[in-house]
Amino acid sequence: MKIAVIQGPNLNMLGIREQNVYGPMKLEDIHTQMKNVAQQNGFEIEFFQSNLEGEIVDRIQECMGDADGIIINPAAYTHTSIAIRDALSAVKLPTLEVHISNIHAREEFRHKSMIAPVCAGQIVGLGAFSYHLAMMGMMQILNEIKAMREQQAAASAAQSMGQAQ
Ligand code: DQA
Repeated sequence: MKIAVIQGPNLNMLGIREQNVYGPMKLEDIHTQMKNVAQQNGFEIEFFQSNLEGEIVDRIQECMGDADGIIINPAAYTHTSIAIRDALSAVKLPTLEVHISNIHAREEFRHKSMIAPVCAGQIVGLGAFSYHLAMMGMMQILNEIKAMREQQAAASAAQSMGQAQ
């Protein structure tokens, strides 16, 4: 199963921008750690970062039929983007929203997330470790979906065997 990781504006500047808020880790180091976790657990993973809202919307749409779940840090678009929220609603994939900082403890304009209502969960405030927890959460969600599909397939196979007799 495949996890798509989508990163919003200015996250390409991690390690340089406001280290007191976002810590010292670069985005590529965070992605290396996520990739290792995915590989160790048998998941595919793909990374995308853009500073442009429309490109993020395009990437979310491309996830339909390509990815099984989305981990997204929409960065500043979290607080403004109905377009990103609508794209997530449209593709209907299990989604986790991630923030490095605790958006609820910062300026008031960061308290509101347009994205949270269309996500399975939100992980905030644990620095780069927020992404690791999102990986754990997403793998749990996808493993549960896989187990449910296998159960359904076994049940319908048993049913058609019964009908054939
Ligand atoms: C952020 C929080 C946002 O409010 C901010 O605009 C960001 C980063 C975070 O990960 O803490 O760019 O999403």
